[in-house]
Amino acid sequence: MKFKKKILCIGAGYVGAPSMVMIACKCPDYKVTVVDINHQRIDAWNSDQLPVYEPGLDEIVQKTRGQNLFFSTDIENQIKENDIIFVCVNTPTKTFGAGAGMAADLQYWEKTARQILENSQSSKIVIEKSTLPIKTALAMERILASGKGDITFDVLSNPEFMAEGTAIDDLENPDRVLIGSRETKSGLKARSQLVDIYARWVSPEKIITANIWSAELSKLVANAFLAQRVSSINSISALCEKADADISEVARAVGMDSRIGSKFLKAGIGFGGSCFKKDILNLVYLCHFYGLPEVADYWENVVKINEYQQDRFIANILQSMFNTLAGKKICLLGFAFKADTGDTRESPAIHITRKLLAEHAEVVISDPKALGNAAIDLAQDGGQISYVEDPYRAVAGCHALAIMTDWDLYRRLDYRKIYKSMIKPAFIFDGRNIIDQQKCFEIGFNVFPIGKPALSRL
Ligand code: NAD
Ligand code: UGA
Repeated sequence: MKFKKKILCIGAGYVGAPSMVMIACKCPDYKVTVVDINHQRIDAWNSDQLPVYEPGLDEIVQKTRGQNLFFSTDIENQIKENDIIFVCVNTPTKTFGAGAGMAADLQYWEKTARQILENSQSSKIVIEKSTLPIKTALAMERILASGKGDITFDVLSNPEFMAEGTAIDDLENPDRVLIGSRETKSGLKARSQLVDIYARWVSPEKIITANIWSAELSKLVANAFLAQRVSSINSISALCEKADADISEVARAVGMDSRIGSKFLKAGIGFGGSCFKKDILNLVYLCHFYGLPEVADYWENVVKINEYQQDRFIANILQSMFNTLAGKKICLLGFAFKADTGDTRESPAIHITRKLLAEHAEVVISDPKALGNAAIDLAQDGGQISYVEDPYRAVAGCHALAIMTDWDLYRRLDYRKIYKSMIKPAFIFDGRNIIDQQKCFEIGFNVFPIGKPALSRL
């Protein structure tokens, strides 16, 4: 079949692959190829066991793979063959040298830019889909312009706003698609080509264009604002616990103000995921770089409150269980950083597990999708850890259970049956406020919610 357009994405991770799957699904006359240096990952994308769990993803991959969607490790040839290239490689926090612990590590990004330059035999549009510090497009342009010959490159910024667990719905019905470009003749032409792709399924008023620096910065700011809401409500949850208020009631009353809105006001054990912390720290680094320490400090506190919330949760477990956890068996229900994903990157459960192990507790971890990643995360940690998928078997014989992830499954468990199988007095630490806490108290548990008075007999 002759395809109308050929699109390449470099980076077959949580974002690159699902976003290309959606383009392939909505544009059957375009050929979409996704490449990665990780052979195992590409093999998995070509198999029945996709490397990423995402509701609805399997079905679309089945429909498009081999038709107009392809996964490959042949990066060099694919660069030659495609004229529109999305780059969606990882941009983690730098762990070494200047800016360690804050700045974005752009080594994968730069390697990709050089690879595009080396293998290009015709002019191309290169689209930043990874989340990047402001002015990264300039570096990309400079690298791409350093070649000989008359090939030209237009760099666009098209940050992705999907969330894990709801990726397919977010990609299919985005709140907005943002496309930043240079305001030159060729920049605007490249931008309109990208607009045409999204216009296949996104309504025109939701496709917004901007100057390239605004687009890059908007992505960092959007994540910072979302994370800030989580830290804001979590900070108030600490006050509620001291002052006998109920954080769910406060969040409801505050969120019903249409100027504030009700989303992202769920108190919990703190935000996880690969991006919030990384992107805020990146923003903090940029503010320092541009000589704005007050702005940097303001945003850094969002991360500090997140750490405080996790430490508070552990301190509460320790204190409630008579100030000793040594030899006690504690079951963590959930390990993914949120429901409907197997992703555990920066999951608060990692930090909480390590703190429990430091207290010499025995930790049993249960999760419907994330046990494989949990075992990788904790592979280097000493101490007693076991992994049990079935929640009933996981909690049996435990002194306490702590809910780490808001999986719907945990709302519907038979807590009477669970209570019977646990050591008494039995404790529940509901880190997501998702269970019927009053009912569990009546069953016999001592229940410790987030941001609400404890229901305890002790
Ligand atoms: P990821 O680690 O899952 O995937 C990145 C992939 O890039 C990996 O498979 C890696 O092997 C590959 N890669 C690295 N260097 C390469 C190279 N030179 N050539 C080919 N492949 C290469 O990361 P992710 O979660 O998909 O995130 C990617 C980017 O998208 C990040 O900048 C992130 O901030 C941003 N983002 C992530 C999310 C999310 O929900 N995870 C949402 C929006 C934006
Ligand atoms: C987030 C953003 O929502 C996406 O728009 C963005 O594209 C993405 O980061 C990214 O750049 O990586 P994601 O991290 O997948 O998406 O998931 P969220 O739904 O934002 O949840 C992040 C964390 O905050 C989770 O640990 C979640 O449990 C926590 N959270 C969220 C709360 O504790 N309370 C809330 O009310 C909402």
